[in-house]
Amino acid sequence: MNEIVTHEHDVVVIGAGGAGLRAAIEASRAGVSVAMICKSMLGKAHTVMAEGGAAAALANKDPRDTWQTHFRDTMKGGKYLGDWRMAQIHAQQAPNRIRELERWGAVFDRTPKGVTSQRNFGGHTYPRLAHIGDATGLELIRTLQQKGIHMGMDVYMEFTVRRLFKTDGRISGCFAYNRNDGSLHVFKAKTIVLATGGITRCWEVCSGSWEYTGEGHALAYWVGAEMGDMEFVQFHPTGMIWPPSVKGILVTEGVRGEGGVLRNAEGKRFMFDYIPEMYADEFADTEEEALAWVDEVISGKLATHRRPPELLTRDVVAKAINSERAAGRASEHGGVYLDISWRDAEEVKKKLPGMHHQFKELANVDITTDPMEVGPTAHYVMGGVRVDPYSQETSVPGLYAAGEVATGMHGANRLGGNSLSDLIVFGKIAGEQASEAANDMNYFADIEQLEIDDVVAETLSPLQREGGENPANVVSNLREMMQEKVGIIRTGSLLGESLSDLDALEVRAANTSPGGIRTYNPGWHQALELSAMIDVSRMCALAAHRREESRGAHTRADYPHTDDSHWGKSTSVISMGEDGSMDIGYASYPEIPEELRSLLDADDLHEGDRE
Ligand code: FUM
Repeated sequence: MNEIVTHEHDVVVIGAGGAGLRAAIEASRAGVSVAMICKSMLGKAHTVMAEGGAAAALANKDPRDTWQTHFRDTMKGGKYLGDWRMAQIHAQQAPNRIRELERWGAVFDRTPKGVTSQRNFGGHTYPRLAHIGDATGLELIRTLQQKGIHMGMDVYMEFTVRRLFKTDGRISGCFAYNRNDGSLHVFKAKTIVLATGGITRCWEVCSGSWEYTGEGHALAYWVGAEMGDMEFVQFHPTGMIWPPSVKGILVTEGVRGEGGVLRNAEGKRFMFDYIPEMYADEFADTEEEALAWVDEVISGKLATHRRPPELLTRDVVAKAINSERAAGRASEHGGVYLDISWRDAEEVKKKLPGMHHQFKELANVDITTDPMEVGPTAHYVMGGVRVDPYSQETSVPGLYAAGEVATGMHGANRLGGNSLSDLIVFGKIAGEQASEAANDMNYFADIEQLEIDDVVAETLSPLQREGGENPANVVSNLREMMQEKVGIIRTGSLLGESLSDLDALEVRAANTSPGGIRTYNPGWHQALELSAMIDVSRMCALAAHRREESRGAHTRADYPHTDDSHWGKSTSVISMGEDGSMDIGYASYPEIPEELRSLLDADDLHEGDRE
């Protein structure tokens, strides 16, 4: 039976991670009716996988920190491609969002003086990450969830949204199905906030949870929104690599923030060989100096020495590990060693309880006595739906986006910890603006019945196909292909091949047969997820193929230089053409005002080529 249940909510929030919950809280506060649609159970969002902390210039650990330094670090870490307006809003508002979480009950770690503790992370000049051991995302979700459910929102758990609807050019609702019982639902809405997170399940080795198949990115693209910077996919330098069943699981950057060092198979602390010129003044080039910095930090003094090179930005560290591997200096199972065993065992257990437990349980390694084996893992997409920085509205009226699904703030590479703070800063703005716009409307627009019929037929079609391939095969082939051809180091020829491979995978995906019925059918879910996975993978491959330079997380072996004169201000913009083709063009953010430009490192801002 194709019965459809219809719901009406002023604001529909799709996604129940940090950004979605924060948006829903703000919208509920404004008095509108709010629906929160979660792909998973409430409380089980990818945000819980964010471990090390949320970046905010609270200046609790180091009084020298300011929003201006946070702004500068974010722009530099993003290799100056990011939207300075978002970086400014984020740096200015993050401290208040953290204090607000504390008022709502988040139990952050504390300094001996009783204020929120902060830890060091890559690319941040000062200790800046407010944290709860190494389970910060979990506590953030627990807090927001607790606050949110008391605000009166309706929660739809284990629903997958398959299409967004527009009426007269403006968002008017969405279609979803219930993953448990296969029931079909239309949500009429005045505004929608997309907060669906990322896409990293499109890579074979990733830290993303199972929900991360890119539906939010695809939904926005399919309804006509502009997508930006999709070539920039972050590989976190440290994921688990052994045993194979846990490959990709995150090993928090907090390990390096607490003094963990990276060594290759020869025992060499190799990061000293990979300090980019733009960071030469900031990072120690000898073990002695790096150790002096750690000593100061551990003893609670203000650091006067340059930081250890393990705390370079993620793009730099991931590529360095890749190079060590390529040079034949990999660890036993093909990564490098991350060692924190030189620190006091009780301190390690106190600061990194999750890591201690994770390695003990999954790899039989005691990190207080032995090094961990780690390697890069696909972790985050800097690209996403283009938004207005002040309202988070996308190019489709009535559609807002916040968190990882949106683009702009992080440029070519995100700093660790800037994601959790991004979620709460821009989630709040999106919820505020979406509810304000909904309050200005006094009707729900009609949704074309033909559109509903079309998406229902499309959703049920895999169940009607017989004799086709198992969708799981196509999913694994897609992930292997993206790992090999759209990975850390790219070339024009591999990227070109990936685009042809995606065409072939699309044909296979359209003919899969999951079998079974609508209730509890993971094969059916996979068959449906493939359309989003293929389109978001194509966006990444296409944008990466066109960008003929190396910048941040996008490295082209055939174009190893950063080309500031040509590519430095060009952010890629992908949208669907009239004929359904994927079109790509370029845009620039407005010129940065002089008072903000003067905060940036003048030496980095020359126009020209650099390695
Ligand atoms: O390494 C980590 O704990 C990850 C944090 C982040 O991606 O922001």
